[in-house]
Amino acid sequence: MKIAIIGSNGQLGSDIFEVLNESYSDKVVGLTHNDIDVSELDSVNSVLKEIKPKIIINTAAFHNVPLCEKEMDKAFAVNSGGAENLAKISNELKAVLFHFSTDYVFDGEKKKPYIEKDKPNPLNIYAKSKLEGENRIKKIAEKYYILRVAGLYGKYPSRVKGYNFVGLMLKLAKERDEIRVVDDERTTPTYTREIAEQLSLMIKKEPPFGIYHATAEGECSWYEFAKAIFEISGIKTNLKKAAPGEFATEVKRPKYSVLENFNLKKAEINIFKHWKDELRDYLGSSNL
Ligand SMILES: NC(=O)c1ccc[n+]([C@@H]2O[C@H](COP(=O)([O-])OP(=O)(O)OC[C@H]3O[C@@H](n4cnc5c(N)ncnc54)[C@H](OP(=O)(O)O)[C@@H]3O)[C@@H](O)[C@H]2O)c1
Repeated sequence: MKIAIIGSNGQLGSDIFEVLNESYSDKVVGLTHNDIDVSELDSVNSVLKEIKPKIIINTAAFHNVPLCEKEMDKAFAVNSGGAENLAKISNELKAVLFHFSTDYVFDGEKKKPYIEKDKPNPLNIYAKSKLEGENRIKKIAEKYYILRVAGLYGKYPSRVKGYNFVGLMLKLAKERDEIRVVDDERTTPTYTREIAEQLSLMIKKEPPFGIYHATAEGECSWYEFAKAIFEISGIKTNLKKAAPGEFATEVKRPKYSVLENFNLKKAEINIFKHWKDELRDYLGSSNL
């Protein structure tokens, strides 16, 4: 049984590749953007028909949020069209499709953790294109898992930014006398290694197909997250809450996008820890 991981050199894809390699070694095939373009049906068909995977894991996305506003066609081609192409080939190969989506599909108005049944209402192009990707998979794919994740960090940098929030805070602590971080956006930062372990367990346990929220437990603002990073690392720094609107951009983002892993808990397979415990694991690992 072959497993194809698309975006295998990305922040999340790299950890998934490592974790699955531990259990399935030579059966795991990592695919980078050089190997496959999910937005091109011909590319998807030729590459995956050759490999014939029984599991397809898609971490690829166009997720530079401000750029998605300017390059709407590309956002929909990759995030929606890519999902559709993978849904079609999954059916043809009778493969299970794992696809990643985002907490941004919600508008934040609920102000309590969102469960999978809550109605999405995306606020920006990135989120709209990701929700459309979810919908196409739901409509087309016979065997699929959509995992909604949030606030990713891990030992491999995001391909878009080249760093993650934790690394950025540690860097700024060395460079600046004062660090200012927003306190009015609440989410749950999640360690990519934990998501990879959760996915691995899903492969083994085969829960019902559908949408799964897959984030760490608890919630925090980015300011609270930064505070915990410095506390756990033992770094003394002058951390301040940014004034409302200080880092305002034109792109709308949900102020509250905390997800509850309702379906993972229902299936009794939720392995996520509290975000602070995951952060301790990450900062304590030798990977930094
Ligand atoms: N980062 C977050 O905080 C966050 C939050 C919520 C949800 N998510 C979702 O989580 C998933 C993984 O995010 P990540 O942070 O790991 O992203 P990442 O580090 O940017 O990795 C994405 C990977 O996809 C590849 N890719 C981009 N466009 C592609 C295309 N058209 N065809 C094939 N491959 C393509 C990228 O390659 P190149 O770089 O070479 O183009 C890269 O290897 C995405 O679905 C994202 O929407 C992320």
